[in-house]
Amino acid sequence: MRKIHLTLVAITLVLVGGYALAQQAPAAQAPGAPVPPNLPEWAWGVMPPPPPGAAPAAPAAPPADDGKLIRIEGSNVALTRTQLRGIPDIVDWHPEDHGPMPSVVKTGRQGVRACGLCHLANGRGRPENAPPAGLPAAYIIQQMEDFKNGLRKTSDPRKANVGVMAGFAKETTPEEVKASAEYFAALPIPQGWIKVRETNMVPKTKVQGNVYFELEGAAAGKEPIGNRIIEVPEFGQERFELRDDHAGYIAYAPVGSVRKGEQLAAKLQCAICHGPNLEGVGPVPPLAGRSPSYLARQLFDFQTGMRRGLWSDLMKPIVAKMAAEDLVNIAAYMASKTPTPPAVRQTARAN
Ligand code: HEC
Ligand code: HEC
Repeated sequence: MRKIHLTLVAITLVLVGGYALAQQAPAAQAPGAPVPPNLPEWAWGVMPPPPPGAAPAAPAAPPADDGKLIRIEGSNVALTRTQLRGIPDIVDWHPEDHGPMPSVVKTGRQGVRACGLCHLANGRGRPENAPPAGLPAAYIIQQMEDFKNGLRKTSDPRKANVGVMAGFAKETTPEEVKASAEYFAALPIPQGWIKVRETNMVPKTKVQGNVYFELEGAAAGKEPIGNRIIEVPEFGQERFELRDDHAGYIAYAPVGSVRKGEQLAAKLQCAICHGPNLEGVGPVPPLAGRSPSYLARQLFDFQTGMRRGLWSDLMKPIVAKMAAEDLVNIAAYMASKTPTPPAVRQTARAN
């Protein structure tokens, strides 16, 4: 216990010390800015370019609201097509999962879309955004500040939703940030949300909206996984699109990646700051059981300097020498860790 306390003091000192550096001008990022040549495309869900000469595919219009009620397995809630689009409030299939939602999470307002629209009512998030459930409130508040100050961007300028997120951070009031931070911090990181499966051959996929989906029917098949993690909705595209927040993900990873990631984590001592089971310590975020695509994007963003928030300097030496394969291995390892159920954790903390 004593060691953890000392570590916390050390971390706090470095966190405060990082202030001066983080105040430097942020790196520029124009929409047409170059993409780093070593971008781990798997983590960004990069869409294939349209065939030469073809007009860019227009997104399919959502089906019209015919008043019919839609239901999903395991929920008593029924929603119209309009409600499914988050109007007027976000989709909430499982109100029993969480406490009362602050209005910024549930409804949003002019200039700020409801946080729960993208991050889901129970904060589990989707691979193309982020899972805020179970993050320390102080960490969330700092991230909103970093987004607002232009210190959290993305290494692939084609991924527009990070800029959209930053726009909300600029628009939210301190009260809204505090309310959303406390809300998400109180939610558990569930066990089994991400199932890491090591394999040499991965199901063939398509990418839509920066998310991978397994191909079905005649197009289905397998291909070598290579140096990638492919994270797909476990229960298919339909439940994903219905924002089913009990339908998690399978993360296919190369054979041996979890063990190699564990070795690297031991060598680089991630646990000193992120806690023995990588469940976070003080304001340092948890990593266990979270989306490997999201986590790998962050490691690469620390590396390129696109994420350079107030506390990011602590991660800089960690990622400095990480090669493409290390990124895959460490992301597989983080995602494979099972978070302790919250009740057990609370009892352990009280002792
Ligand atoms: C339009 C979708 C969208 C909405 C709405 C949205 N976010 Fe985000 N959020 C994102 C994306 C995208 C990211 C960054 C993903 C990345 O860097 O790859 C993100 C990242 C975050 C993170 C960083 C998580 C971490 O682990 O560091 C936090 C915290 C966060 N959002 C909080 C909020 C809050 C609070 C609101 C409501 C005020 C909100 N978001 C609304 C899309 C959204
Ligand atoms: C010296 C302390 C320290 C060590 C060691 C450390 N981290 Fe971190 N890590 C942090 C801090 C502090 C943050 C928050 C950074 C910020 O706010 O920009 C962070 C953030 C992260 C994030 C982003 C999380 C999110 O929700 O966006 C990932 C991923 C991560 N660390 C992975 C690792 C891994 C993997 C290791 C070991 C290989 C490691 N860290 C070692 C302190 C540390």
